[in-house]
Amino acid sequence: MLVTGAGSGIGLAIAQRLAADGWSVLSTDLKVGDAPGTRFEADLTTRGGNRGAVDAALEAFGRLDAVVPVAGFQHVAPVADFDEDRWDAIVALLLTSPFLLAKYAWPALRESGEGRFVVIASIHGLVASPYKSAYVSAKHGVVGLCRTLALEGAEHGISATPVCPAYVRTPLVEMQIADQAKAHGMSEDRVLEDVILAPHAVKRLIEPAEVAATVAFLLSAEGRSFTGAPVTMDQGWSAR
Ligand SMILES: NC(=O)c1ccc[n+]([C@@H]2O[C@H](COP(=O)([O-])OP(=O)(O)OC[C@H]3O[C@@H](n4cnc5c(N)ncnc54)[C@H](O)[C@@H]3O)[C@@H](O)[C@H]2O)c1
Repeated sequence: MLVTGAGSGIGLAIAQRLAADGWSVLSTDLKVGDAPGTRFEADLTTRGGNRGAVDAALEAFGRLDAVVPVAGFQHVAPVADFDEDRWDAIVALLLTSPFLLAKYAWPALRESGEGRFVVIASIHGLVASPYKSAYVSAKHGVVGLCRTLALEGAEHGISATPVCPAYVRTPLVEMQIADQAKAHGMSEDRVLEDVILAPHAVKRLIEPAEVAATVAFLLSAEGRSFTGAPVTMDQGWSAR
């Protein structure tokens, strides 16, 4: 299987969990660090990077049964000030990279007979927050991509599922807490409770290992009936 964003946070937790479960893992990221399995460094905002990652997995394993796009980043700004290059980069990484990975891996996923495509989308694939126009748009897009892949893949045994977590304890969120603390002149603890976790009914960050466990389930035999619908783990965010 192939996992992107494997150098940090949720992607690293997924690579570690699946390697421990016995999967042959290709870990890819800009900087892959000491992620488990076969390591491949690539810029996934490029077509060549995505092609290279799929080719490296096929070369290493001779087959590809699962693709798990995770790599991502956030940019927060009001729409009138939103940097256009940031918009392009977010759409390239969060939406176009999963599309390219699916396209390039499709023949191998068909051959697998039970191919799985599980993307880490976000609760922002289903609801919006202000100042995150690119992120929310790209995450909504990738939920739509999974719905389409689920329909196209059904007759080939390929499933496609977006996992939609609320806030997870990773460097991406820790940076947002630090930035907002500075911007609002508040302590980091107060930013976490009053700003970050405000939309959560349950006032707790999700742990990366919990997201990894959900992905492990979706890739297991027991997860085979999940396709084309978001799997939401949002601490009650969308219950309101
Ligand atoms: N942390 C959260 O609260 C949260 C919640 C919901 C969804 N997500 C999603 O989960 C995914 C992982 O987020 P995380 O919190 O683990 O973040 P993270 O910053 O810890 O990890 C993201 C990884 O993506 C990699 N990356 C960035 N640009 C890249 C590029 N051009 N090419 C290849 N790799 C690149 C980074 O190097 C990094 O290792 C993202 O798609 C994010 O949107 C995160």
